[in-house]
Amino acid sequence: MTIPAGIDRISFYTTRYSLDLKLLAEARDVAYEKFTVGLGQAVMGVPPPDEDSVTMAAAAAKPILDEVGVDAIELLFFATESGVDQSKAAGMFLHGLLGLPARCRVVELKQACYAGTIALRMAALMVAASGRKALVVTSDIARYDLGSPGEPTQGCGAVAMLVSAEPAILALDPEAGIHAEDVMDFWRPNYREEAVVDGKYSTRIYLATLRQAWRQYAARTGRTPADLARCCYHIPFTNMAVKAHDRLLKEAGITEGRPALIEAAVRESLGYNRQTGNTYTASLYEGLTCLLDTATEALDGQRIGFFSYGSGAVGEFFSGTVVPGYRDHLFTEKHRELIETRTRLTVQEYEDIFNLCMPTDGWEYSFSQYRTGPFRLSGVNAHRRLYEAV
Ligand code: HMG
Repeated sequence: MTIPAGIDRISFYTTRYSLDLKLLAEARDVAYEKFTVGLGQAVMGVPPPDEDSVTMAAAAAKPILDEVGVDAIELLFFATESGVDQSKAAGMFLHGLLGLPARCRVVELKQACYAGTIALRMAALMVAASGRKALVVTSDIARYDLGSPGEPTQGCGAVAMLVSAEPAILALDPEAGIHAEDVMDFWRPNYREEAVVDGKYSTRIYLATLRQAWRQYAARTGRTPADLARCCYHIPFTNMAVKAHDRLLKEAGITEGRPALIEAAVRESLGYNRQTGNTYTASLYEGLTCLLDTATEALDGQRIGFFSYGSGAVGEFFSGTVVPGYRDHLFTEKHRELIETRTRLTVQEYEDIFNLCMPTDGWEYSFSQYRTGPFRLSGVNAHRRLYEAV
C-alpha cells in the first residue's frame, strides 16, 4: 500500500516568556473565570523584542533539520501574518539561518490563519510528484490593543513540518471541503502593529465557515464524525474549538451526548494553546502537535479531522491518517520543557515589552539580549534586519 504524502516530522516552538492570565485579569479588573472558563485560556506567550516570526520559525525548524539534514529539502513555504518585510519573504532569512540548499525554493504565503494549510497541501502535492522533501513553517505573533477584548487571546509560536512522500507521522487524505467568502471579521492594515477585530462577528463567521466546509467534506467523502477518531481545530482560544466541534456534531444530526463526544474528540489537542494563546497560522498545527504528544491512547492508523480557519475568510475541512509508529518521531520532551520553563512576567514587564517599538528610521539599533531560542534578532542597520545564532 502506498501512503499518501503528508507530515514526516512536526516541531513546535514558543518564546521563553509568558504572562499568567490571573495577573492580567487582576490588572484589567475582569473576573479570572472569564479567561479560564469563558475563553478557556490560562497563560499567554509573550515575544521578547529580539524574537519575531523569523526567529520562532527557525527555532521550530532546527530540531527537524538537525535530525534529517537539509540536503533533500527543495521547497520552503513560510506561512505567516506577522511578516517582517513587504518584499523579502520571511523564509529567505530562514534559508540563511538554517543553511538550506541553494536549489531550495522559498515563498511566503498569507491568508490570515489559513495560510499554513494551503502551504501544507501544496507542499504535499509537490513532494508526491518529485519525491523530494519540503519544509512548511507557520509562525505568528497574535497582538491586539492593550485592554481590548482580544488581549487575553494574544500569544506567539511556530510549528515547522517536514513534508514528504513517505511521511512518518500523518498521511493526508486528498479530499477537502472549502468555503471562502470576502468578510471583514479580523484584519491588520499595513500601518498597524495590532489587529483590528469585530470579535463576536468573527466567532459567528468561523462557525458558519466550518458548517459549509464540513458539509462539502462530508458530501465528498461520505464520512461522519464517527469516522474521525479526533478533530483538531484552528484555536484562537480553546473554547472556540469546543464550540466548533459542538457545531459540527449538530450539523451531522447528533443531538445526544455531545459534551462527552467533544471531550473525547477535542480535549487532548488543546493543552498547548491554553498555555501559549493564539498562534494564528501555527495554532491548528500546535493543536495537532499537542494531540500527538499527549494523547493517552496510541493513535496509530486513526483518522483525524482538521478545520483550518483564516479570517477574511477561508475555511477548509480535511483529514489525514496517523502513520503507525509515529510516536518514535515526535519531539514531545522538547515541547514539554519549552512550555514549562518559561520566565513568568509581571503585567508591568509585559506592557513594557509590548510598548517597545522598533525604530523605523533605519539607523543602527541593537536589541538587548533576552532569553531566546537558538536565534535572535540582534538589531537593524541601514533598514536591514540582523539575525544571529545564540
Ligand atoms: P468578550 O466580548 O470580552 O467576551 O470577547 P464575552 O463577553 O463574549 O465572554 C467570553 C466568554 O466568557 C463568554 O462565553 C462568556 O459567557 C464567558 P460564551 O458565551 O461565548 O460561551 N464569561 C464568563 N465565564 C465564566 N465566568 C465569568 C465570565 N464572564 C464571561 N465570570 C472575544 C470575546 C472572543 C470576542 C474576544 O476575546 C476577541 O475579540 N478575540 C479576538 C478575536 C477572536 O479570537 N475571534 C475568534 C474567531 S476568528 C479566528 O479564529 C481568526 C483569528 O485567529 C485570526 C486569523 O484568522 O488570522 C482571530
